[in-house]
Amino acid sequence: MKIVDNFANLVLISQKLDSILPICENRGLFNPVLEPFQMTNILVIHGPNLNMLGKREPEVYGSDTLAVINQNLNQMADQNGVQLQTFQSNTEGDIVSCIQQAGVKEIEFIIINPAAYTHTSIAIRDAFLATRIPFIEVHLSNVYAREEFRMHSYLSDLAVGVISGFGKNSYLLAFEAAIIHCKQSSNKRTQ
Ligand code: DQA
Repeated sequence: MKIVDNFANLVLISQKLDSILPICENRGLFNPVLEPFQMTNILVIHGPNLNMLGKREPEVYGSDTLAVINQNLNQMADQNGVQLQTFQSNTEGDIVSCIQQAGVKEIEFIIINPAAYTHTSIAIRDAFLATRIPFIEVHLSNVYAREEFRMHSYLSDLAVGVISGFGKNSYLLAFEAAIIHCKQSSNKRTQ
């Protein structure tokens, strides 16, 4: 009996809500459709030859593999409630397509180590100009303490910032900065 009564009450409440909600909505009193909780979405792109980390010139790039770096980033993402995707490619066009896709997939922020494409790629520069996704440029080595050709970047002037010379920690520092940047941007949007 009680169950039947409760059910009848529920139907009544639901009918009342059905009639009230559209009125509130029209008057802009509140948005009855709850905004889905949006996690910060960060993409990390690793450029050419970074799949060789660990074996490749360890005196310059350190002994950690890319898998270890990604694992560390994933730990930081979990600790901060951030969604992380990682991508590595040795091909310029694939990196361009990945940046274009990031625009469609609502990636809020990109961390990129463009590796050698830093110094050559107008195509990657144009992809960032086209999508307008904010990004940090990262280098394991200090590119300013090396050959002259590494001192020019086609991306730095578009980047939110550049982190270079801290080995694996360059990525982790960039990740921290990216989280702060995303939090500040979302605060500005809700003010
Ligand atoms: C690098 C520096 C680039 O000059 C070089 O071509 C790389 C790696 C770095 O992480 O230090 O491949 O981006």
